[in-house]
Amino acid sequence: MTQLEPAALHAACRRVVAVVNGKGGVLKTTTAANLAGQAADAGHSVLLVDLDPQANLSEDLGITQNGAGADGGAALFDAIARGKELVPSHPGIRDRLDLVAADPMNTAALVAWLAAHRDPGGVLALARALAPIAPRYDLVVIDLPPVLEELRRIALAAARYLVIPTQSDISSLKGMRLIAQQFAQARQVNPDLELLGILLVLVPESARAIRDDVTASIHADFGGNAPVFRTVIRHALAPARDARKRGLLAHELETFVPSQAETFARLRQRAAGATVERAVSSTAVKVAADWAGFTEETLMRIAEREAERSGEGGAER
Ligand SMILES: Nc1ncnc2c1ncn2[C@@H]1O[C@H](COP(=O)(O)OP(=O)(O)OP(=O)(O)O)[C@@H](O)[C@H]1O
Ligand SMILES: [Mg+2]
Repeated sequence: MTQLEPAALHAACRRVVAVVNGKGGVLKTTTAANLAGQAADAGHSVLLVDLDPQANLSEDLGITQNGAGADGGAALFDAIARGKELVPSHPGIRDRLDLVAADPMNTAALVAWLAAHRDPGGVLALARALAPIAPRYDLVVIDLPPVLEELRRIALAAARYLVIPTQSDISSLKGMRLIAQQFAQARQVNPDLELLGILLVLVPESARAIRDDVTASIHADFGGNAPVFRTVIRHALAPARDARKRGLLAHELETFVPSQAETFARLRQRAAGATVERAVSSTAVKVAADWAGFTEETLMRIAEREAERSGEGGAER
């Protein structure tokens, strides 16, 4: 494990984004997977790190439990607890996209190790594991579970940026208050940590103007000028189900939407009594566009922040 000073660790981790929310089911994993996948598709080299023992990220990328890399998760535990070099368990899971997978056993061992190492050395353990390899990537994205304080603490100590997906209802917005408090605590060990933005997800098609209504509430929690992404992610159950079932990201699923001619052909087959498998919903195209908009905004915000920091004379390499 690297012995870099904290400032050097944070400089090495300057493109690390953690997707975080203490609430379950608010598309943290879908956000991490699609951000990483679309950024890689656009030509960036990306590392995805799964800190969630549920390992949904692997599922979203089409890795089954019995498939290659069923030992996923050992890499992370070995790097953090044993000081070994962090090696992605699934290099090249897509073009330009590497994955450090999670698994329940190793994550449980990691949480136990972290619980016994609450000192600054333990808190910075993920930053130390990532520092040697993060500079090889244009973007590193960390997916987190809704629970497990220990994992959130090391992610917030390693990341430069936080993305918080949230639903727009009152109880979800209250859940963000907890993250706001932890954000303030994390900045004591990681003063470079920034809130890159809050992403409104699962927004009903009929209520896309909702963004303005909730912005005021978000500002109240994060002290005045919390950035909210312009893009919102629509609620669209069928494409989400298809994507996870097939292990495809939204922009990959989009290519399976049948053309009009194919749709008519299927209708004719069905009318003739044939059993026709349900086609991928055309809403998949809209969902893929939502994730593309979010990815573009994320990359632009990072570029803007880096330009601002170098203008401020920050010590970026
Ligand atoms: N646009 C969408 N509309 C509706 N459902 C969606 C959409 N995108 C993803 N989903 C579904 O919502 C569920 C929760 O998504 P996801 O697993 O990304 O949330 P999470 O915040 O990571 O959950 P957890 O807290 O368990 O880690 C999944 O079943 C997923 O397929
Ligand atoms: Mg998840």
